Amino acid sequence: MKEKKEKLLEIASKYGTPTYVYDLDRIKTQYQYLKDAFNWPKLAICYAMKANYNPDILKTLGSIGAYIDAVSPGDLYLALQCGFDISKVIYTANNMKETEVEAVMKTGVLMNIDSLSRLDKLAKKYPGARICLRFNPDVVDGEHDKIKTGGDLTKFGILLEDADNAALIAKKGNLKIVGLHEHTGSGLKKTDSILSAMKNIMAIATPIRFPDLEFLDFGGGFKVPYGPDEQQINYKKIGKNITLLFKDFCIDYGKQLRLIFEPGKFLTAQAGALLIEVNTIKQNRERIICGTDSGFPQLIRPMFYDAYHHIENISNPNGPFKKYDICGNICETGDLFANQRKLSKIREKDILSINDAGAYCYAMGGVYNLRPMPAEVVLDNGAIRLSRKRLSPEQLVSLILAETSGNV
Ligand code: LLP
Repeated sequence: MKEKKEKLLEIASKYGTPTYVYDLDRIKTQYQYLKDAFNWPKLAICYAMKANYNPDILKTLGSIGAYIDAVSPGDLYLALQCGFDISKVIYTANNMKETEVEAVMKTGVLMNIDSLSRLDKLAKKYPGARICLRFNPDVVDGEHDKIKTGGDLTKFGILLEDADNAALIAKKGNLKIVGLHEHTGSGLKKTDSILSAMKNIMAIATPIRFPDLEFLDFGGGFKVPYGPDEQQINYKKIGKNITLLFKDFCIDYGKQLRLIFEPGKFLTAQAGALLIEVNTIKQNRERIICGTDSGFPQLIRPMFYDAYHHIENISNPNGPFKKYDICGNICETGDLFANQRKLSKIREKDILSINDAGAYCYAMGGVYNLRPMPAEVVLDNGAIRLSRKRLSPEQLVSLILAETSGNV
């Protein structure tokens, strides 16, 4: 633990702050954990690269056999550039326009279709294509309302009761449905939700309705503990039930199918930290304000989902505990990483580590207030390596001016 803190301090001093740090070995361990938990001969762990598209992470996961869940042309092109074979990518975008469909179909990637309307258009334009169908699993779970993807209040997937309609449209267009997909939500709180969603998809996946299935894909959503009261769910324990359920399904279906999961958070969240520096301590009437050199556009989960991220003062780990508001440098009141958080005494110039920041943090980032995104550093077999540099404000502005040339 001590060694890790020293390494983080070394990174902060060498590359400055704000800087994201990703431990590639931890990502490999998480991947292996899931491989072991779901002991099925044809298992694919399809990394949901929306969680973190850092190329070093993509290459690391590619090198140990991961597949890719891509959700946009940008995702797809980056995955291909990072060495993923097109046969290992599933394309699960939603609300695509025609130009996107055309560009993506040209690559030969497997499209996952999530509405009858799109299915109909695709059948007319690409008769004979191999595709996957995304269904709404009708199970509601997830660690925040904004990231629950099953049930009546979500835009995703084809309704289960439309399975026959979907099969009919596909048949008319001679489409080959090779896979069925669902994703229930992110940070699934109940392990039963995984099993219920699987059962709902299996119930419609009959050989009569869908005779050409090669796989079933049950999405991501494996929860990681963020808060101090949260425990790591034992996925190895429920893994047995999952593989058993799938085995029985395959016997009924009459063919051994591929079992696919699409984890994002589980693979990368705990492998990442954002290092920030304290520049201002302000004693207000009721609270101590700790001002830092990052802000919500660089790590939005606390502000957007009221998410808890553990924060450590790695410069003064043994100081007496006090309560702080850990704030950013953005001109908005809600720009807080933590509200009234107990931390070991913070001094100006201390380095704070915002933990479990490897998923949906950099990837959801932006340059609001024109503050460039943090640098990214990887720990690769313990060695420190700069993965992506931080732009200077001047470089950021020249990119903006280059894109708006003629308008200024
Ligand atoms: N598959 C599909 C179709 C998805 O939509 C998602 C996530 C995943 C897989 C991966 O889910 P995961 O294993 O990472 O939970 N920004 C939010 C999470 C949004 C998840 C969006 N879809 C957060 O920071 O909590």
